[in-house]
Amino acid sequence: MTLPVRISASLLAADFTRLGQQIEQAECAGVDWIHVDVMDGTFVPPISFGLPIIQAARRVTALPLDVHLMIVHPERHIEAMVDAGAAWVTVHYETCPHLHRVVQQIREAGAHPSVAINPATPVCLLDDILPFVDMVLVMTVNPGYGGQRFVDTTLRKIGDLRARIESLGREIEIEVDGGIHAGTAPDVVTSGASVLVAGTAIYGGSGSVVANTAALRESVLGETVR
Ligand code: DX5
Ligand code: ZN
Repeated sequence: MTLPVRISASLLAADFTRLGQQIEQAECAGVDWIHVDVMDGTFVPPISFGLPIIQAARRVTALPLDVHLMIVHPERHIEAMVDAGAAWVTVHYETCPHLHRVVQQIREAGAHPSVAINPATPVCLLDDILPFVDMVLVMTVNPGYGGQRFVDTTLRKIGDLRARIESLGREIEIEVDGGIHAGTAPDVVTSGASVLVAGTAIYGGSGSVVANTAALRESVLGETVR
C-alpha cells in the first residue's frame, strides 16, 4: 500500500494578527491540509482557540481543515466543528471512554474520523477501533505546545501501527504531530507516516513559509510510505 505524503500546516505557530495571510501563504507553498489545534486548558494545560478560528480559516481557504481536539468531552463539540468546516476530526484516545461512539458521531456528522494517541499510549490499544477510523494521529511530542523536541521512541510505534493497518487491509492515514521538520520527517515517513503536521517548521524561524515548506517537502522526496 503506498500513500502520498501530505503536509498539514499547524496554525498554532502562525502569527494570529495576520492569520488569513498566513493560511494563504501555506496554501501557495503547496501544503495539503490546514491543522487546527483546539486546546481546553484541562486535557492539556493551555487554552488555544475554538470555533471562531475554524470558521475564519474556512472563509480563506478551500484546503481540508484537519481539526485536532485536545479537549475533554469532545463529543459535545463534534457537530459544531464539522458545521464550521472541519473535514477531519481527531479525538484523543485518552479523552474518550466511549471511543467507538464518538468515532461514529464524527462520521455521521460528515467528517473523517481520526484518533490520536500520546507518546506513552500503546498502539495495541487501537486494534478494535482501527476498522472504523480513516486516520490515526501518533503524537510525536506530548500534546499542548508547539516547538517541542521529537520523542524518538514514537518511531517504533509508527512502524508497529503501519504493520497493523496493512494486515487489516484498509487505507488508513498515519499522521504525526510534534517536532516534525526536515531532520525528523524522513524517518517518520520511512516508518509509515503519511501526513506530517508542522507548525514551527513552517511558520517559525527566519525563512519564508514557502521556503520552509519546500525544505520540509524536499526532505521526504523519494521516501515512500510502506
Ligand atoms: C501540539 C500540537 C501541534 C503543534 C506542533 O500539541 O498538537 O499541532 O502545533 O507544533 P510543532 O510543529 O512546532 O512541533
Ligand atoms: Zn496538533
